[in-house]
Amino acid sequence: MTASILVLNGPNLNLLGTREPEVYGSETLADIEAASQECGKSLGLDVEFRQSNTEGDLVTWIQEARTAYDGLVINAGAYTHTSVAVLDALLACDNLPVVEVHLSNINQREEFRHHSYVSKAADGMICGFGGYGYQMALQAIARMIDQT
Ligand code: DQA
Repeated sequence: MTASILVLNGPNLNLLGTREPEVYGSETLADIEAASQECGKSLGLDVEFRQSNTEGDLVTWIQEARTAYDGLVINAGAYTHTSVAVLDALLACDNLPVVEVHLSNINQREEFRHHSYVSKAADGMICGFGGYGYQMALQAIARMIDQT
């Protein structure tokens, strides 16, 4: 059976391509989605992408992942650094692999970006590789699913 992976994107990631391209690159979220879906196919994963600027949507979708998906990739954007609600939802997902992604290397940026609530619940974190990080996350999830 093909495993289903939910890929969640938080606030402002809908602006990729035009938003601070010197930090986030020139790829749009649609470009990243297409490349991730292609990568997922080669790994035997069915990949679904979603984006919201609203914290509650992310919480609801994380809860959905818990019962309806086999793995979760999350770039929570700025909520990474602020949201206990996102953390609590992720802590309830201890039954499935969770990988945190950031396009930029958050550890080389402002101090307030160094702390991640998401990291407290994720199995691992990939940052600094732009959109390719999503493909790396899918590879990590494919491996975790194979090992279980
Ligand atoms: C980001 C890093 C966050 O600090 C920032 O708020 C974002 C994007 C990244 O992908 O590099 O919106 O998650």
